[in-house]
Amino acid sequence: MITFDEKTKIFKLDTPNTSYVMGIADNRYLGHVYYGKKLNDTNLGYLMRTKEAPFVPSENLREKVSFFDSFPMEMPCGGVGDFRESALLVSCKGQEAAELFYVSHEIFHGKKKLKGLPATWGENCDTLEITMEDEVLGLQVVLSYTAFTDTDAIARSLRLVNGGSGDLYVKKALSACVDMDQKDFEFLSLFGSWARERHIETVPVGHGGISIESLRGEPGHQEHPFFALTGKNCSQDAGEAYGFHFVYSGNFLGKVKMNQFGNLRAVMGIHPDSFTWKLEPGAEFTAPEVILVYSDEGLGKMSRTYHDLYRNHLIRSPWKDKARPVLINNWEATYFEFDDEKLLSIAREASKAGIEMLVMDDGWFGHRNSDNSSLGDWQVNEDKIKGGLEHLVDEVNALGMEFGIWFEPEMISPDSDLYCNHPDWVLQMQGRVPGLAREQLVLDFSRPEVLEYVYESVASILRTANISYVKWDMNRPLADCGSSYLPEDQQGEVMHRHVLGVYELQERLLEEFPNLLLENCSGGGARFDPGMLYYSPQIWCSDDTDAVERLMIQEGTQLVYPLSAIGAHVSDCPNHATGRVTPFATRGIVAMAGTFGYELDITKIPPEEREMIPQQIEEFKKYYPLVNAGDYYRLASYRENHIYDCYELVSKNKKQAMVTFVQVMAEPNIHSRKIYLKGLEEDTVYEVEGKRYTGSTLMYAGLLIPGMWGDYQAKIIDVLAV
Ligand code: GLA
Repeated sequence: MITFDEKTKIFKLDTPNTSYVMGIADNRYLGHVYYGKKLNDTNLGYLMRTKEAPFVPSENLREKVSFFDSFPMEMPCGGVGDFRESALLVSCKGQEAAELFYVSHEIFHGKKKLKGLPATWGENCDTLEITMEDEVLGLQVVLSYTAFTDTDAIARSLRLVNGGSGDLYVKKALSACVDMDQKDFEFLSLFGSWARERHIETVPVGHGGISIESLRGEPGHQEHPFFALTGKNCSQDAGEAYGFHFVYSGNFLGKVKMNQFGNLRAVMGIHPDSFTWKLEPGAEFTAPEVILVYSDEGLGKMSRTYHDLYRNHLIRSPWKDKARPVLINNWEATYFEFDDEKLLSIAREASKAGIEMLVMDDGWFGHRNSDNSSLGDWQVNEDKIKGGLEHLVDEVNALGMEFGIWFEPEMISPDSDLYCNHPDWVLQMQGRVPGLAREQLVLDFSRPEVLEYVYESVASILRTANISYVKWDMNRPLADCGSSYLPEDQQGEVMHRHVLGVYELQERLLEEFPNLLLENCSGGGARFDPGMLYYSPQIWCSDDTDAVERLMIQEGTQLVYPLSAIGAHVSDCPNHATGRVTPFATRGIVAMAGTFGYELDITKIPPEEREMIPQQIEEFKKYYPLVNAGDYYRLASYRENHIYDCYELVSKNKKQAMVTFVQVMAEPNIHSRKIYLKGLEEDTVYEVEGKRYTGSTLMYAGLLIPGMWGDYQAKIIDVLAV
């Protein structure tokens, strides 16, 4: 619910358990008042402290700059006296400044689409749009806040309109700014690298400020467009957590800084470096949205809120609630060395084991036999796929399996026909030789003809055969971001235009192939972000499928993403990223925390492992309703204890749960571990491994897990209400 109190000029946005409050001070400035646990009062104007020094400008004009530097602005602009982090910076008429005055607002049911951008959607929400204006520039800023009525989440974004007569250059347009009272917060973020994405890290917040960012043109393996401000001693179950998550797949900045008065300003949005957007008179710019979540029941509640929001209000795919076909991907099985016969030999064994889809990964097009050529030449290599794609797909279909295919549409190899014909289609800066990464360059998505070519390349392949699934990959960051198509004063748009181009292409693809199962990917998990979830219901989580490393990657990913979105496969050992050898059964159990599949040469693995596959698939299907829709509770973290990992999924009706326990390190002379279940009904009797306990016993007295012999052992424990 959203209300506006005319007398006090206070806006109050309520979700089921949280409130977000703002107010208009001095009849013009929009200030932040409160965000946190739900409040029942509307009389909250006193929290803006406009009645104490330095007072509002109408009462004390001689200290206007001091007012600007202490007032909790909802959309702070640089240049006029707020010396803290700005959210909006525009350059126009030789000025780099703006002062936004409140003009009007509108409250309505539901939520508008964000033009060209991924965004949350749905009926169970209300939206407040506040229009602000800088008269000198003729700039209008529409701040949008959606409060969900079924989930404790608030979506924030903004739209800029050039209502003036001259060009305006947007140099910074962050989507959210929240000024908060100091509460001894810690800053939790997800960091990593290739093959070890999204590890959780928590550091104290101090005066120097702390930030997360990407300038890679994608979120990257290294940092993630998410941070949480957590109260001291915030645990899985107790304490305060404020989550900020950016629904965007490009450069980002998230920053928190304590000011001279001990208060915090938290901002998030598109990174202002390498960004300038030209707004001609009448033109608009929409910034992507940030999802704010507040929990006073620890990180666990925050995670469950994000999971529910993304499942119910972000993912759109018709596959959203369906079990995805169990797939086998040939990448780690063959790398580039395969032909149709090899793929079919894999498919034959796979279909016998109950695997439902074959995915042909990189290397099927142009003359690509290693990663040094052919990106852009999306024609089937008939030396490898003899008889053509349709024939191969028909053969796979005849085995009762579906067929999926890999693309890397944004890229171009210098060794390609496409590059020979269109050297001007790559991102490059005049006078500089663009840098290669994985021996490839990036296509210039500001060029309409490039988008058209890329779309047709992918769509025409999909039109030729019965293809059910596409893995859309992106294997290098953007650099040398210049476009020979755009004029000089629009070169700062290249990186954002690239992301918009990706969105446009994926949207178009889903319009033409509405049942396509799309999986996004970027060198593993470098573009795992909420923006991508709007187009694909699942994202490849990491190129590292080692069962132990995956525990940490998946824990960090589960912190904000529903498990049904997390691409997870069983691969061969020694693992290709770590060299570690773990039992096949454990690899299966770890991969069940996501969309399940295999990434190995099934014709070569030991027969006893192959024989385990039908059973693993059966278990995956049995647990899938919990993986897809259950409430997630983390019971123990290997990252923290260095010995074992444990999480639980509970059905919404609390009749069923599964507990996944992985004993990474065997310990001598420890006979059992006690775990405390969560999220059950206290008085309900549950059956666990043939014994009966009430929910209260399982949650408060605990369940004993006997020690297992050897490292890397795992089991799933069923919990069923009787
Ligand atoms: C990326 C992906 C892998 C595989 C290769 C192919 O690294 O993450 O799964 O598709 O590209 O080149």
